[in-house]
Amino acid sequence: LLPGFDLTGRCALVTGSTRGIGLAIAEHLAAAGARLVISGRKAETCDAVAQALRDAGREAVGVPCNVAEKEQVLALADAARDAFGGVDILVSNAAVNAYFGPLAALDEAVWDNAMRANVKSGWWLSNALAPQMAARGGGAIVFVSSIAALYGTRNLGLYAITKAAENALVRNLAVEWGTADIRVNAIAPGVIKTSFSRALWDNPAYAQAYVESVPLRRIGHVDDVAGLALLLSSSAGRFITGQTILVDGGVSIADKG
Ligand SMILES: NC(=O)c1ccc[n+]([C@@H]2O[C@H](COP(=O)([O-])OP(=O)(O)OC[C@H]3O[C@@H](n4cnc5c(N)ncnc54)[C@H](OP(=O)(O)O)[C@@H]3O)[C@@H](O)[C@H]2O)c1
Repeated sequence: LLPGFDLTGRCALVTGSTRGIGLAIAEHLAAAGARLVISGRKAETCDAVAQALRDAGREAVGVPCNVAEKEQVLALADAARDAFGGVDILVSNAAVNAYFGPLAALDEAVWDNAMRANVKSGWWLSNALAPQMAARGGGAIVFVSSIAALYGTRNLGLYAITKAAENALVRNLAVEWGTADIRVNAIAPGVIKTSFSRALWDNPAYAQAYVESVPLRRIGHVDDVAGLALLLSSSAGRFITGQTILVDGGVSIADKG
């Protein structure tokens, strides 16, 4: 491990880290030496993932939290801070994609829930944890956004709007917390093979057309995202802030020819 990537003694909270991209990020940060706070909605799954990390010789605890619920999010921030004496790295990864259809037919309660889970949760967590990061001499905040933020879509409008708001939140937090040496960045993945995106990669016609539009000619793997999260969380990425970095095999820069 290059010294810049070493996270020994650092504490990282990763929301939505019981499977998929969040789990891969948690495993990469733990392998670099970080102590992990694992979170998802179910206590049993959080505990099982934390136990598996401890079995592998890492330090980890599990704390359940639904990121759409403010009280649970604030309790998660408290528990994470108390688990190892302070949080140095926050990865706001959990999100919902609960609506497929045109914006005109969208129920307002669904809009509000998506805004709470995908946007306000990151704001709540940053407000709760950035001051103690500042007191510890700095830190890193990483949001897992999406390339959906870049496009107008027929049926994913709500999701895309929340992800675009997340990218704007990142830029504003980066400006507000830069003098405290807290870096704030977003990762915007393309299609990554997880349960979240099953409807895309499990549909042969869609998957084939998508892969043909990707310069690297494949669907992404969770580890494709986790390496960048490690860079952004560690001093190897110490001069990167306010950015949204795409991890999409090049699909967003390719022509459609
Ligand atoms: N997969 C893709 O193609 C893709 C592409 C672009 C961006 N992303 C983004 O990547 C992030 C992770 O997605 P993923 O593909 O890794 O999904 P995933 O495999 O379905 O994992 C989602 C994780 O979040 C937790 N979770 C779900 N809803 C939650 C809630 N309301 N509160 C707290 N935790 C919750 C899940 O645990 P529980 O179910 O136990 O709560 C699980 O740990 C999301 O922000 C997503 O928008 C994914």
